[in-house]
Amino acid sequence: MAHEFKQIDPNATSGAKVMNWFENRFPTAFDAYRVHMSEYYAPKNFNFWYIFGSLALLVLVIQIVTGIFLVMHYKPDADKAFASVEYIMRDVPWGWLIRYMHSTGASAFFIVVYLHMFRGLLYGSYRKPRELVWIFGCAIFLVLMAEAFMGYLLPWGQMSYWGAQVIVNLFSAIPFVGPDLALLIRGDYVVGDATLNRFFSFHVIAVPLVLLGLVVAHLLALHDVGSNNPDGIEIKGPDAPKDAKGHPLDGVPFHPYYTVHDIFGVTVFLFLFSAVVFFVPEFGGYFLEYNNFIPADPLKTPNHIAPVWYFTPFYSMLRAITSEMMYVLIACVVLGAGYGILKSRLPAAVKGAVGVIALGVIAMMLSIDAKFWGVLVMGGAVIILFALPWLDCSPVKSIRYRPSWHKYVYAVFVVNFVILAYLGVQPPSPVGEKVSQVGTLFYFGFFLLMPWWSRKGETKAVPERVTFKPH
Ligand code: HEM
Repeated sequence: MAHEFKQIDPNATSGAKVMNWFENRFPTAFDAYRVHMSEYYAPKNFNFWYIFGSLALLVLVIQIVTGIFLVMHYKPDADKAFASVEYIMRDVPWGWLIRYMHSTGASAFFIVVYLHMFRGLLYGSYRKPRELVWIFGCAIFLVLMAEAFMGYLLPWGQMSYWGAQVIVNLFSAIPFVGPDLALLIRGDYVVGDATLNRFFSFHVIAVPLVLLGLVVAHLLALHDVGSNNPDGIEIKGPDAPKDAKGHPLDGVPFHPYYTVHDIFGVTVFLFLFSAVVFFVPEFGGYFLEYNNFIPADPLKTPNHIAPVWYFTPFYSMLRAITSEMMYVLIACVVLGAGYGILKSRLPAAVKGAVGVIALGVIAMMLSIDAKFWGVLVMGGAVIILFALPWLDCSPVKSIRYRPSWHKYVYAVFVVNFVILAYLGVQPPSPVGEKVSQVGTLFYFGFFLLMPWWSRKGETKAVPERVTFKPH
């Protein structure tokens, strides 16, 4: 249906006339600007935790732009890849800057996204009606991990090569289809030129397209239901106070209020980002591992292979699943099923099914190698995040109004995650193994027991209106 032309006052400024000309020919763009910026009402009590979404968008743009320039000089060929990266670093004008921005950007992406996710956890942003916003977020996190993993192979250094070898081999632990799946991913019996070519193709176009699509879905879903806030109060609900035009009294238009707020956040971020890019781009071997400055050598395995820091909490959980640990996991299944059968109020038929499934799972746990369960635990550690909206049964959303001891549970969760990350970078050791096993049990316990512990304790009274102090 044709859009009705908007008339403009003949005395209007030339700028307004130009805008009117465009608006009459592309009204969708102008409507989108209004819906998502100038008339998108966001809660007025956002705090510093709310800048990480915009920062994630900024880093996404940095990665795409620097990536485009890297591709102009990089050669996806096992004989030339390492040298082409060195060529970018030494000979291409500003090549070193582009490359360091991209490598630092990868770590920055995970820092920002981990903080962004933690904010969601703190304020219950995944709860109704934002379940889909969270689910799109979790999908983004998974895809981001795939993107980083494939990108890491491209410099074709020792860590690129052996890291990919270790991780792709994990797929071969899957019963029946595993070995064929690993072969399909590699395109060869060992990581080689075919692997490099397919990872390159996925890294530069396929995965970024999926990532962009998911980010758009994430934001559209968010803007349909409206943002949460540190108080966890719905500012747009049917009972929420509104002005004569129906705008929420506890909201402010995203533009200009939060555009300015986010520009401040972006400035601080760029200071820190530049400090790393210009002064410590390797970041002590955490952002760029030292072994990766040695060309890939399929005949020489490095003494210690560790993934980049952002994968290490999950890598620790993989290593924690030893054959002895399997007995602990079997005990957990027995306890869980025992509780379901003896204590819960489930119908008898469901209890029977729980018993049969538990026996089947235990039989499989006893017969399939621990390596497979390690892979499953590592994958499960990410997949469980998708279920968070249904695991959290607290009567209130935000940590502010939950029982005070909940704060300590979250604090221990964070410390545990950091310890797992640290252990994942270290070479295996008997003490490290035990600590990572306890850490893995805590990580899963935090989520799986959430339906129980999140209901416990005395919640505080949630105010009617958001708490806001002008500054
Ligand atoms: C490329 C990665 C991502 C980008 C660009 C992105 C972008 C954004 C933006 C711009 C917002 C609105 C501003 C804000 O609330 O901070 C937002 C909100 C949100 N994001 Fe993300 N996000 C990303 C990844 C994730 C991930 C991995 C998760 C969780 C697993 C997630 C969960 C959420 C939630 C729950 C909200 C709503 C927060 C609230 O209203 O309190 N996002 N995201």
